[in-house]
Amino acid sequence: MTQPGNISNEQRLPGQGGLPQHVAVIMDGNGRWANRRGLPRIAGHRKGVERVRELVRTCGELRIPYLTLFAFSSENWRRPEQEVRLLLDLFLTALEREIKKLHEGNVRFRVIGDIERFGRKIATRIRQAELLTKNNTALTLTIAANYGGRWDIANAAATLARRVAAGELKPEDITAESLEANLSLAGVPEPDLFIRTGGEQRISNFLLWQLAYTELYFTPTLWPDFDRDQFEQALASFAGRQRRFGMTGEQVEAAKHA
Ligand code: IPE
Ligand code: IPE
Ligand code: MG
Repeated sequence: MTQPGNISNEQRLPGQGGLPQHVAVIMDGNGRWANRRGLPRIAGHRKGVERVRELVRTCGELRIPYLTLFAFSSENWRRPEQEVRLLLDLFLTALEREIKKLHEGNVRFRVIGDIERFGRKIATRIRQAELLTKNNTALTLTIAANYGGRWDIANAAATLARRVAAGELKPEDITAESLEANLSLAGVPEPDLFIRTGGEQRISNFLLWQLAYTELYFTPTLWPDFDRDQFEQALASFAGRQRRFGMTGEQVEAAKHA
């Protein structure tokens, strides 16, 4: 029996203070960064890729095992055709240029989202990169591309519905756990820390399901200016938070000292 004010081992929860195990980032503000310099928007996206490289390196050094980055939302197709085309070109170039180094750095590379819409060339390169790096263990880098949280949940629901229709599953077997097991991030722990750069305080259809208990951090810094120092400020903010997961602050404190 759990004593009042205590929580049992089974209830003990990960990611209290210290370093997050999984960081998820909405890299926003590239266009504004470029506009302020009188440059085309794509210049901001290019600078943004450098920041991705830097953040991947930092996570490796700090031994943060999971990093998930929102690169292109299912709503970003609404942008001018030319920007979408340049973004896809940049994605392909960055992938081809970086994948060898990622592999050497023991990084597992994954993409979540409906990648078929990017066309066969990009989809094939993505699959090759995933295959090449699938046994790497230092850091799992997940890129959300043509990704939407609603799409992800709807997909998982459809998968379960097909299994019910096939008689493999009963409707009452559909639980939060079975739904989660069919999301594209299945098997990856939920993000401990969410960061959005660029000043906006919204989720923009990113990981809707997984962010339920994630600590949120918003900064006005534009993504191309988000350097290691900025990241460490986010980590410091995270380290100072008490995650209660519905319990009382006293219970959480007691569990820490148990
Ligand atoms: C984020 O920067 C990158 C993508 C959405 C691809 P934006 O391009 O949204 O930059 P802002 O928000 O217009 O400044
Ligand atoms: C969110 O940024 C998506 C990515 C960073 C890839 P947006 O710039 O598209 O978000 P909104 O439209 O301002 O909500
Ligand atoms: Mg934006």
